Amino acid sequence: MSNGSETGGLTENKQSIRGNWGSRMGFILAATGSAIGLGNIWKFPYITGVYGGAAFVLVYLVCVVIVGLPLMMAELIIGRRSKKNPVGAFKALHKPRSPWQATGWLGVASGFVILSFYSVVAGWAMAYIFKSLAGFSGTGQQIQSQFGTLVAHPSASIMWHTIFMVLCIGIVIGGVQRGIERWSKILMPTLFAILLALMAYGVFYTHGGPRALEFLFKPDFSKLSAEAVLSALGHAFFTLSLGMGAMLTYGSYMRRDESITRDAITVSALDTIIALIAGVAIYSLVFNFDMDPAAGPGLIFQTLPVLFAKTGPWVSVPFFILLTFAALTSGISLLEVVVAYFIDERGWSRKKTTLILGTAIYLFGLLSAIASLTIPFRGRDQGFFDVFDFISTNYMLPVGGFLTCLFAAWVMKESDRVAEFGSRGPLYKGLIFVLRYVTPVAVFIVLLHGLELLPFMDY
Ligand code: TRP
Repeated sequence: MSNGSETGGLTENKQSIRGNWGSRMGFILAATGSAIGLGNIWKFPYITGVYGGAAFVLVYLVCVVIVGLPLMMAELIIGRRSKKNPVGAFKALHKPRSPWQATGWLGVASGFVILSFYSVVAGWAMAYIFKSLAGFSGTGQQIQSQFGTLVAHPSASIMWHTIFMVLCIGIVIGGVQRGIERWSKILMPTLFAILLALMAYGVFYTHGGPRALEFLFKPDFSKLSAEAVLSALGHAFFTLSLGMGAMLTYGSYMRRDESITRDAITVSALDTIIALIAGVAIYSLVFNFDMDPAAGPGLIFQTLPVLFAKTGPWVSVPFFILLTFAALTSGISLLEVVVAYFIDERGWSRKKTTLILGTAIYLFGLLSAIASLTIPFRGRDQGFFDVFDFISTNYMLPVGGFLTCLFAAWVMKESDRVAEFGSRGPLYKGLIFVLRYVTPVAVFIVLLHGLELLPFMDY
């Protein structure tokens, strides 16, 4: 295992057989592995609850189609054309001292911040594997209060955060393709099957099914706040791993004979379907057990165990193992972007970079792991966890995505784009039109709206 291309992760591998995943499946798996994660199963259901349900879901779906899909194609085009990390890519396709490389820096910074709190949630998922083994018992209230106990004890949160970061670092040092890619083939479909089963159970065997469907799919626009719209956009970025160059980096390892359009549609569709299935499954339980939809980040950790108390560890242990795995395939993509930048642009070795940056992210994450640390933010005292989540998801990713979109649409050479897209037909013209006039305008308006700066609105 000392051979460079065997032990290397994505970047080493790309240097030996530069630009190729093993197969089309290789890219689809890694990209869906990055996209599908805590964002789908933990975050989507809980923020949908916080922002009031179906109207939020609808705005999110619109964002996926008019912002997410075109932007994913833009990132893949830039990545595959340049075959570089996010900073190098903008330089390669523009000029050596290009100001556009700042977009890449912002991406690297976003990866750093997101992974720091993402790891804390992934840690909760791991803690719940072991809680599941012991079994959940007691009243609904008692089961739900276990989550509060976990979060309130920094030592437990820190321990799991440590373990998750060690796993991410180990995988990124050791070899993404041979480990994660092969496992993804088995584990992603299993996760899908378990979620489908949970959804079927929720819809057909509990009283919560009809109310869940209504809550998620019957919009009441009077409930839609400015913050909700901003968060729907931010979540579209977050769940599709966009706006920080993760898809750009993965695109740089993509084969030339693959269709970017087809792959981007596949990844976005799979990601959206998983989120919706998770939403229906979880809300059926929420309403069945009369829980609060707006419970916040603890939602799945409080609702699902009440059901698991009945099913036993047969269902709960695999569920939390798979959730951890989904988080891991996303976590490594976040770390990979940061690492790829330092390797390519600063000439550090993979091992050194991964160890140093992984440790830095870990230390930064301690702020989020200690729930009792708070700072004033948006008018109230909040934990670092919420603050970092809000800033990175709702500002850093949209700004990064906005700049990436402008670059792809206005700055990049026409010939470069066409070479990657594969044709100049109506589909191509449509994409460029959307990237020029629709996506950036939508992102810009939503950002202004989120900052409460739109002149014609009444805040
Ligand atoms: N998309 C992942 C999720 O839904 C999280 C993630 C992985 C991510 N890589 C990213 C988010 C890059 C933003 C940018 O859990």
